[in-house]
Amino acid sequence: MSTVAINHQAPETAAPPLLTDTAIDGMAAYEALVNEARSDRTGFWARLAREHLSWHRPFTKVLDESNAPFFKWFDDGLLNASYNCLDRHLHDGNANKTAIIFEADDGSVTTITYRQLHARVCRLANALRARGIVCGDRVMIYLPMSIEGVVAMQACARIGALHSVVFGGFSAKSLHERMVDVGAVAVITADEQMRGGKNLPLKSVVDEALKMAGTDGIHTVIVYRRTGGSILWDEPRDCWLHELEAAQPDTCEPEWVGAEHPLFVLYTSGSTGTPKGVQHSTAGYLLWAAVTMKWTFDLRTDDVYWCTADIGWITGHSYICYGPTAVGATQVIFEGVPTWPDAGRFWEMIARHKVSIFYTAPTAIRSLIKAAETNSGVHPRRFDLDSLRLLGTVGEPINPSAWEWFAREVGGGRCPVLDTFWQTETGGHMITPLPGATPLVAGSCTLPLPGIEAAIVDETGCELPNGQGGLLVVKEPWPSMLRAIWGNPQRFRSGYYPADLGGKLYLAGDGAIRDAQTGYFTITGRIDDVLNVSGHRMGTMEIESALAAHPLVAEAAVVGRPDETIGEAIVAFVVLKGPRPQGTEARQLADQLRAWVGKEIGPIAKPKEIRFGDSMPKTRSGKVVRRLLRSVAKGETLAQDMSTVENPAVLRQFGHHE
Ligand code: PRX
Repeated sequence: MSTVAINHQAPETAAPPLLTDTAIDGMAAYEALVNEARSDRTGFWARLAREHLSWHRPFTKVLDESNAPFFKWFDDGLLNASYNCLDRHLHDGNANKTAIIFEADDGSVTTITYRQLHARVCRLANALRARGIVCGDRVMIYLPMSIEGVVAMQACARIGALHSVVFGGFSAKSLHERMVDVGAVAVITADEQMRGGKNLPLKSVVDEALKMAGTDGIHTVIVYRRTGGSILWDEPRDCWLHELEAAQPDTCEPEWVGAEHPLFVLYTSGSTGTPKGVQHSTAGYLLWAAVTMKWTFDLRTDDVYWCTADIGWITGHSYICYGPTAVGATQVIFEGVPTWPDAGRFWEMIARHKVSIFYTAPTAIRSLIKAAETNSGVHPRRFDLDSLRLLGTVGEPINPSAWEWFAREVGGGRCPVLDTFWQTETGGHMITPLPGATPLVAGSCTLPLPGIEAAIVDETGCELPNGQGGLLVVKEPWPSMLRAIWGNPQRFRSGYYPADLGGKLYLAGDGAIRDAQTGYFTITGRIDDVLNVSGHRMGTMEIESALAAHPLVAEAAVVGRPDETIGEAIVAFVVLKGPRPQGTEARQLADQLRAWVGKEIGPIAKPKEIRFGDSMPKTRSGKVVRRLLRSVAKGETLAQDMSTVENPAVLRQFGHHE
């Protein structure tokens, strides 16, 4: 395990929010829930599961710890996620409520009610069954942000098939790797996607992935016609979504699955090897998505909620597809990008749709600050943002100045900013302020939610006092935690419940520190070789392997360099098989390698900088000295001890000048 990099900035206290009547009204209410969970952990979770989920057959067991850390929750209960998100609202007065306000890249708006969404999901679910897809099968989803994205995910859930959504920015190779690992039988995609005024291919990427080895099991490709762009067609494998839907009735008996039945597998990057398939359960996962919608976002009947994430990430799963629908929210879904046609798009959309809860990423905020500073026409003050009452951020640390700008310029000083810390693996929020309860501090995700026993420990698993930085862990299981790494139970156990820490603590992979007085948590960043680039999780090893696969490359090492806007920038150090290139040749080669990484993984993984050297700086035992490369990437003076480095001179080539 690498050492913890603590980079703690003194928190500045911000004005507490002035909301009353919230889901958790005041710190006393928060403490009461924390105590309820501590004094009767299973009773607490059972109460929530009964209150927030509809069960086809109620559970009698709450938590099975007999095979820890492979925990089971509500194991003998039967339910269906899509029933909970849709059918429930046919009878609770929400049938004709708008479920989704979809704004396309070009600004056109389509809305759909809960009744209509239910019907579309049922039709597609019937169609999936008609194509021979059954409970337990895996279906890849490679779609743009759309109503169809939610329909596809919910239709899988309805028949008990597991979806595996892949972000539309990933390459054919990345898609292929995931579809083979998960053993998919079908793909749901679109002809093309529209982003920033451009048509980008999707179906042709699927075709390319399906030409690669190991995809014979995929018998169906369902295509949503988004742009009408020309695509290749392979009958009978390929079929149009609208034709399938038209041929089916708009009701569909849900598959009642056990609480632990996997709802989906979502791939994310780890510090080693290939991306890992994070497997979530049905009941525990859905429970927390619903509860946190109410606790963190304090969702009310007339709210218009907007989360700007993509369904290809966990935020789009928990806080677009499942959480908002489980609680009957009206939500905005946006196809495009925040900077098109200009950087005022988010503010204009908030005004147009009267958004009251706005949840986005610090990277987006930072880039919009920059844009507003240079072009007053896209400054949030130019727009009517009075409808907003809550703001949230997710995905990476938010620096206090961006937090304050967001609170002041977007929230008008009235709206609490909720810095929500969580991960793909945790399923939902873990450490976050609660509106109307937690006094806010810019740059801190404050306190764990009731039921979440977060702590900070040293490298042997001993809890550290407040004020001392260490490893963020969770001491007790919680229902929405990941259940497994798809097909790799050992990786689950060793990665998340490492023996070094005693085997009983969930290791988040982040460093954190608690404030000496308030006990508030501040996340200090990953402790492993995972980078956070624009809020996207990227493994350095994945990028290194992609570079090393290029015919000219002998060796590559990738590190992150702190970046004001995107959080971390990818810097790659490359040794070629031939001589080290210089000048124009180096620049051309760097461009070529960047394009290569874009093709191998996806544009989000392209290194910002590529530097060439004659060899890699290594210890005498042959390990690449990443800490030195990190310093070189930052342009720091190398004060560290270099006696263990075999070839320190190469650092100068890589850009370090004493
Ligand atoms: O490093 C933490 C960072 O994002 C990681 C999880 O990434 P992912 O699984 O892709 O999920 C992102 C959306 C939940 C964490 O290990 N992270 C996430 N939220 C925060 C954060 N870092 C600081 N503050 C946050 N609020």
